[in-house]
Amino acid sequence: MDTSEAIHPDRIGAEVVRQAWGQIGKALSLTCIDGVYICRGERASLAFVFLSDTMFRMKLFMGKDVDLSSTIAVLPREQSKLEATLQESESAWTLSSGQLVLEIEKKTSALSIFDVNERLVARQDQISWNPRGAIQAVYDMPGDSHFYGLGEKASFLDKKGEHYTMWNTDVYAPHVPEIEALYQSIPLLIHMHGRSSYGIFLDNPGRTDFDMRSHGIAYTIGCSTGDYDIYFVYGPQLKDVVREYTKLTGRIALPPKWALGYHQSRYSYMDQNEVLNLARTFREKEIPCDVIYLDIHYMDEYRVFTFDPVRFPDPEGMMAELKSLGIRIVPIVDPGVKKDPKYEVYRQGIANNHFSRKLEGDLFFGDVWPGISAFPDFTDDSASEWWGNLHKYYTELGIAGIWNDMNEPAVFNASKTMDLDVMHSNNGNPKTHEELHNLYGMLMSKATYEGLKNNLDGERPFVLTRAGYSGIQRYAAVWTGDNRSFWEHMALAMPMVLNMGLSGLAFAGPDIGGFAHHTSAELLVRWTQMGVLFPYCRNHSAIATLRQEPWSFGPEIESILREYIGLRYRWMPHLYNLFQEASETGLPPMRPLLLEYQDDPNVTNLCDQFLVGRDVLAAPIYRPDTEHRAVYLPEGEWIDYWTGEVIAGNRHILAHAPLRIMPLYIKSGAVIAEGVPTLYADDRTDETITLRIYGAQAKKGFKASYSLYEDDSSSFAYEQGASSLLQFELIGEDHGLQLQYRYERQGYQANREFLRFTLVCTSFKLAQIEGLNELTIEEAEEGQEGWYFDEQTGGFTLQVQDRSEGATYFLKG
Ligand code: GLC
Repeated sequence: MDTSEAIHPDRIGAEVVRQAWGQIGKALSLTCIDGVYICRGERASLAFVFLSDTMFRMKLFMGKDVDLSSTIAVLPREQSKLEATLQESESAWTLSSGQLVLEIEKKTSALSIFDVNERLVARQDQISWNPRGAIQAVYDMPGDSHFYGLGEKASFLDKKGEHYTMWNTDVYAPHVPEIEALYQSIPLLIHMHGRSSYGIFLDNPGRTDFDMRSHGIAYTIGCSTGDYDIYFVYGPQLKDVVREYTKLTGRIALPPKWALGYHQSRYSYMDQNEVLNLARTFREKEIPCDVIYLDIHYMDEYRVFTFDPVRFPDPEGMMAELKSLGIRIVPIVDPGVKKDPKYEVYRQGIANNHFSRKLEGDLFFGDVWPGISAFPDFTDDSASEWWGNLHKYYTELGIAGIWNDMNEPAVFNASKTMDLDVMHSNNGNPKTHEELHNLYGMLMSKATYEGLKNNLDGERPFVLTRAGYSGIQRYAAVWTGDNRSFWEHMALAMPMVLNMGLSGLAFAGPDIGGFAHHTSAELLVRWTQMGVLFPYCRNHSAIATLRQEPWSFGPEIESILREYIGLRYRWMPHLYNLFQEASETGLPPMRPLLLEYQDDPNVTNLCDQFLVGRDVLAAPIYRPDTEHRAVYLPEGEWIDYWTGEVIAGNRHILAHAPLRIMPLYIKSGAVIAEGVPTLYADDRTDETITLRIYGAQAKKGFKASYSLYEDDSSSFAYEQGASSLLQFELIGEDHGLQLQYRYERQGYQANREFLRFTLVCTSFKLAQIEGLNELTIEEAEEGQEGWYFDEQTGGFTLQVQDRSEGATYFLKG
């Protein structure tokens, strides 16, 4: 029988319970108090703070005072206030910084942003809010608009016509374009139109929303709780947006070199013997590998900070053998702590009030791998410190890397996460889980990174995370969660990781070979060829799927995989250089062509090929039974890495790529630093460097240059100046080339006697170098200084003593 509930207003729906949306109305005044420009409107106010010539913050607030604290996404040092020039006309106020002019219309409170040439860059029409706390702002969307950023999203590079939500979510269902929220939330939208770009970062870790689909000539940004608090980051170059945004939210910490190696994982390597056999097999087969991951089965009934005593009876012994092989272990650590009164971690968490609770005081319990579990409240510094210190358990075993998973947090319940009414302590400023949801994973990885760092005696930690929020790049690398062994998912990894790179997540990659479903020999080859050029390079697969270690499909496949993994290791000095650049500038090692060729209309949505740094172009084959594909080469000359053919750019070509070949091109005039082949990345027994110069020309106007950064690959000594920077230049003259190198600083002494400079794919015929003898290859191998020609590669190599004072040579043709 029905009760009165039958006529509950919610059952009747929105037609009856209509929500009243409010708007600012007229702008009434604009004043400046301590560097904060306050625009009072009829029904709400806007606060503006200029952070640089090209960046300002804008926050909507009700009432008298504005709270300008921010989330941990924003680095405190980036919050200083610059002065702007304030002017008033009859219809508007304007605020000018060096590069931008903001105009606030008195009649509507609409905001127009102009560049120094009075060109309209962006326009924010209205901000509206409803009584339940949702806020939405509307922005102009001209017809030539393109959208990028937004972190980890499915679909193509250009997000025009898409709608996305930021709500960290554990998505095991196949990742498809219509999934609006995955594990990471990076609420940074980059808008490009008229070949100029700007970004809007909405610093709100609750549910936020970006709609470039539904409003025709406008796009909207909104949030369902919390504040509308944005940072407007002007380009006009995309690179400027990435640099400024990462200045605000931080850049990747320089990783230990081993973290850039090839990583092998599976859910799960079940016991100690399996792990050791795996490591031995890598070494027997001479396939480079730096890390083996331990997935959840290493634990005692999934209790974090334990080893299963039967499967892993001797972790110390295992670690000792792995160390002798140059292989590291990265174990998984999830946030759920098993509810078990006999379990020390649970007891400590309860005794010290470190777990998340409801307002009423009840602990929040959720079901995850260990069964019913409690979840640390990482918004509380003391809980984070406790968690960080628990990692001593691993560091004492020689473990320096941790894999954070399920930290959205994922819970096996209907909402897939923690109850929204959990009240996080937030260091004395309590907020609901609904308001802070997207911060949970980042705070866990921050606690982990800091805990490891405190306990590693000067070694650089490595953290891998599934969930994160803006700024996560400061603490962890990111992998793209549970993809599948589908060709479509291989293709999807490119735009996904490219946009992550534009969103500050420079150190990212997918599970190579695919996690769920079953890989095939061909898919594994094609995916590995591509994956070895991604920033993060891990092969991982799910329980009960076909094995996908490099030797799983016989010797022919194994040899191709060895070659490509080997290429990553040969290019390690170059890759490390790119990571160092990312840590200083925010520019990602893996780049869409758009980042380097913003004015080229062919690349606005090009995402089935990518650049490694500025000059290496990879065009993977991402379909089965396919040996040909179209490749777009931007302006300039490009050299086919495999054949040495020089190809004019600014056009599409058809590449031929049998299974052994992934189309790969190097820009003419580029330089790549190569190391000697090693089986693990921080093997420093021989740090001889070869600078390989592509397409040198003995004519005026030709110039190739390179800056090589080096340090001890693993400690923080570089922060105290223990790094070196080698500057190299090759300049074309009428009858030859002038080659010069010098150390700009040499705070790190690499372990080598020689530097090598190799000229490949060049029409230049070297005849003589004053002060250097011509050698046979045998003489060079014996360790003499001089130069030689290698018939096999068709290249000339100078092998010279590595002198701290540098040297100059004239190469006569
Ligand atoms: C999640 C992770 C996956 C891991 C599995 C078991 O699905 O995304 O990488 O292997 O849990 O821990």
